[in-house]
Amino acid sequence: MPTPDLHAVELAETAAAAFREVFGAEPEGLWAAPGRVNLIGEHTDYNEGFVMPFALPFYAAVAVAKSETWEFHSTYGEGSTVRADALEGVEGWAAYLAGTAWALNESGYPVGPVRVAVHSDVPHGAGLSSSAALECAVLIALADLYGHEIDRAEAARIAQKAENEYVGAPTGVLDQSASLLCTEGNVMFLDCRDFSREQVPFDLAAEDLVMLVIDTQAPHRHVDGEYGARRADCEEAARRLGVPFLRDAPKDATLDDERLNRRMRHILTENDRVLETVAILKRGNVAGIGDLLTASHVSLRDDYEVSSVELDSAVDAALGAGALGARMTGGGFGGSAIALVEAAAAAKVEAAVVEAAADKGLPTPRVFFARAAAGAHRVI
Ligand code: GLA
Repeated sequence: MPTPDLHAVELAETAAAAFREVFGAEPEGLWAAPGRVNLIGEHTDYNEGFVMPFALPFYAAVAVAKSETWEFHSTYGEGSTVRADALEGVEGWAAYLAGTAWALNESGYPVGPVRVAVHSDVPHGAGLSSSAALECAVLIALADLYGHEIDRAEAARIAQKAENEYVGAPTGVLDQSASLLCTEGNVMFLDCRDFSREQVPFDLAAEDLVMLVIDTQAPHRHVDGEYGARRADCEEAARRLGVPFLRDAPKDATLDDERLNRRMRHILTENDRVLETVAILKRGNVAGIGDLLTASHVSLRDDYEVSSVELDSAVDAALGAGALGARMTGGGFGGSAIALVEAAAAAKVEAAVVEAAADKGLPTPRVFFARAAAGAHRVI
């Protein structure tokens, strides 16, 4: 078993304490799964394209034991407990847990009732995959407790099924893959078609760089229409071109529809940008990817139309203050941006981002440093 992340251990101990307090018993084990940022490759996952996430050192930690009924406890806010005799119809935050158990059963990995206590520090609603972290933590816990060896790529698909079919959010497989498959110190180059992947070293410190994550504090929205509408545009464009997914569209393809052309251009250029990013990182030149990050943002803003005033403000202010590159990360419509910055300029960039938000009357962004952390793992 790989050495658990120390921060994950701390979170898991809090989950264990909550477990003892709420259920009056000992958990059988502790597991943790991280949130993520996506370095580049946005909205490409459901087009069977390329993504490049890394795990953040924020985890959903779960303390779990087998039980007679389903009992879910979260320390979030003042704490809440949900009890259910069956897996159907569980709502709210517990749906991510119940949905994952349901998806395991549906996928031929039978699991029975458990008690779960969750303690997570993945920022909620910030587009940093707090829900995928929950799903993945409970998935590896249930697999361990019920004796299933599940390949991590298949596990990502199962967690995605929970999100798509149980929770009802039509997302791709980026977030769950990131949480389950990323490794410490690396950014993962993943082909969402066949799950072939490569862990590419991402050593910011070697170049005196930092990656800022800027949580705009404007909640991102998925279940409601816009994300699904982008997916539908991509499917329609692929259908009209007669290709299975936009990943397969010829570079010079055009359709008699201006909006679909822009959607398609984003996907095709974004896949190319991921490949270029991989090539530059492999040459050991993190600073060299700055322009690609910014080009990705422009494409998401103008062609894919998934940015927001808050995200544009953060990206523009970061670039204006000297960031080497900046972009929204994740689904968009709020959530978080990332900025690649020389360490010496970090304070200046942070101040500029906060000031720009204040000038526009936007919520005060929360800024922190990212590092490439470990993927989902058993803690104890
Ligand atoms: C959200 C979804 C992912 C992916 C990104 C955009 O995070 O959950 O599947 O589509 O948006 O890249």
